[in-house]
Amino acid sequence: MSAILDPRTSEDVGRRYDRSGRAGGGLDAQQPAALISFETDRLYLRQWLPGDRAPFARLNSDPSVMEFFPRYLDRATSDAMADRCEALIACRGWGFWAAELKETRDFIGFVGLHQPRAGLPFVPCVEIGWRLARPYWGRGLATEAARGALRVGFEDLGLEEILAFTAVRNLRSRAVMKRLGMREDDRTFQHPELSLESPLREHCLFRLSRRRWAAVLRD
Ligand SMILES: CC(C)(COP(=O)(O)OP(=O)(O)OC[C@H]1O[C@@H](n2cnc3c(N)ncnc32)[C@H](O)[C@@H]1OP(=O)(O)O)[C@@H](O)C(=O)NCCC(=O)NCCS
Repeated sequence: MSAILDPRTSEDVGRRYDRSGRAGGGLDAQQPAALISFETDRLYLRQWLPGDRAPFARLNSDPSVMEFFPRYLDRATSDAMADRCEALIACRGWGFWAAELKETRDFIGFVGLHQPRAGLPFVPCVEIGWRLARPYWGRGLATEAARGALRVGFEDLGLEEILAFTAVRNLRSRAVMKRLGMREDDRTFQHPELSLESPLREHCLFRLSRRRWAAVLRD
């Protein structure tokens, strides 16, 4: 649900964050940050480019990709979301990075870190999220990129914990969380931005501590 990231309602882009702070303190520092990008075996995770907008709009209007979101995004809303991802990365140095397949140089979606807006029962926090175009599912690409994003979160940003949440019905996304070694909370929660009648309202929450992440890496 990270991925709603509604450009009209999300948090203030104007805040600046310092990625150098440890123990989470740096997230609230009022200084510009250096841009972070990284690569994995098969992917570049990078700042957004103008050419990403068209393929991003295609995946945001694909019913299979948007199955667990309350609405498809039209072109203008999709572009606004890309603009917002780009602005947050420019501002803080990190965020939902554009994912580019090395082999073809295709934009395939986004994976990254985000501070969800107030209103959720577990904020403030940093969450990890992902959204890939349908042809790129089933290849381990989301998990590969997410492992890189976790490394940035724990090693570069000094986070103590990273969360992930999704509609309980979103089994593919939950499977990524489990593959990353995240632990599911016993209790689900009701997403406050979804109507009481919505079948997507019930969400599960996964957590990964820095300590557990280090243990997962050793295993
Ligand atoms: C959630 C989402 C990113 C998961 O994508 P995914 O491709 O299933 O996840 P992964 O990248 O981890 O790939 C795992 C699959 O690739 C397979 N795979 C193939 N080659 C692999 C490789 N080299 N390494 C690892 N896994 C590989 C795995 O066996 C697994 O297959 P399975 O699904 O049949 O069990 C994708 O479904 C999506 O974008 N959904 C729409 C957006 C969304 O719901 N986002 C989450 C909102 S909270």
